[in-house]
Amino acid sequence: MDWGMKNRLSQIIKNGKCLFMPIDHGYFLGPTSKLEKPGETIKPLLPYSDALFVTRGVLRSCVPADNTVPIILRVSGGTSIVGKDLANEGITTSIQEAIRLNASAVGLSVFIGSEYERQTLLNLSTLVNEAEGYGIPVMAVTAVGKELEKRDARYLSLCCRIAAELGAKVVKTYWCEDFDKVVNSCPVPVVIAGGPKTETDFEVLEFVADGMKRGAIGVNLGRNIWQNAHPVPMIKAIRAIIHENASAKEANKIYEDGKKVK
Ligand code: 5RP
Repeated sequence: MDWGMKNRLSQIIKNGKCLFMPIDHGYFLGPTSKLEKPGETIKPLLPYSDALFVTRGVLRSCVPADNTVPIILRVSGGTSIVGKDLANEGITTSIQEAIRLNASAVGLSVFIGSEYERQTLLNLSTLVNEAEGYGIPVMAVTAVGKELEKRDARYLSLCCRIAAELGAKVVKTYWCEDFDKVVNSCPVPVVIAGGPKTETDFEVLEFVADGMKRGAIGVNLGRNIWQNAHPVPMIKAIRAIIHENASAKEANKIYEDGKKVK
């Protein structure tokens, strides 16, 4: 692997582990709850984030240019939650733009099993062809659109393996039962996506701890942090699972103790 590629990967993955903070939701959801003003939402969370997953529009307009948290630039889109099909994505942002914005990595969604499977997989291949030329890692997002019930080990293993085969350096996928099956058949590191806010806070800590125990290298988890009424205690708890090997119970104590601090 070239020095530039290794260097960029080491900016976003620390000692083999990572907590990516996604705030890219607006690219298809519009002004998502608690993300109406992304700059304000992320301000207290940046010290605990290993990288920020963001579109160029929000990066330029809401993130100060003296920010030192590495950027993973969201470069796919073209659909919306009120449109016909979320899977019909294209590449939205050039590799020159990623370089101009000093991105450490780029990220794009693939929709395997959808009507747009071929198109989104070719988007990934095109992006890898271009990004590799500049030593920029590509993170593939195995997206399911509105079909959240698709998230099982068999389907997600298929998605992650295909994304890795096409050249993704990191794959982001949903946690599921038997998550080790997904990780063990994927030759590149896997990070856990969050999904919609869970009913209880402990559920998040449990699935993150389980996913880490089963081989994930970290998370790319947004709504379950910044839609929480106590986002800083929550991110500290998740960080402890990822970087300090804390159990879900130990992390919950960090969360509960953090909630008491005024
Ligand atoms: C949207 C994304 C988000 O980055 C991803 O869904 C993670 O955020 P959350 O934890 O809120 O689901 O890729 O397509």
